[in-house]
Amino acid sequence: MTDLKLMELAVEARKNSYAPYSDFHVGAALLGKSGRVYTGCNVENAGYTPTNCAERTALFKAVSEGEREFTAIAVVGGKGAELAEFCAPCGVCRQVLAEFCDGDFRILLGTPEKYSAHTLSELLPYSFGKADLK
Ligand code: THU
Repeated sequence: MTDLKLMELAVEARKNSYAPYSDFHVGAALLGKSGRVYTGCNVENAGYTPTNCAERTALFKAVSEGEREFTAIAVVGGKGAELAEFCAPCGVCRQVLAEFCDGDFRILLGTPEKYSAHTLSELLPYSFGKADLK
């Protein structure tokens, strides 16, 4: 799986985004260590707080199907039909990713035309995780 293909799968997943309140549509494609890709989109709710981000949709789909180790995620987002240059994962999604992903987990942000690779430790430094509870 190439980085570019993962970005393209995130764009595809974004088409299913349900965002009638914000009109901000996000897609994600998460690569499992098995080689399988799990896609997700944001799913909003009239109660606002039950809204689920694209990254968490992808991760929860993966975990619910038995995959627990991951190498990379691609994220794209933007208002209406337009893709923004950059859509960074929210803090909650960074924390949820940290439950299953190591610091060197790769996070691809941007568009298929122009994207950059980051690591989870870069986006979530000094994180609190399962090791702290031992
Ligand atoms: N959103 C995501 O799906 N992922 C992010 O990383 C940022 C925000 C969604 C949540 C909400 O449906 C909309 O974008 C506006 O915040």
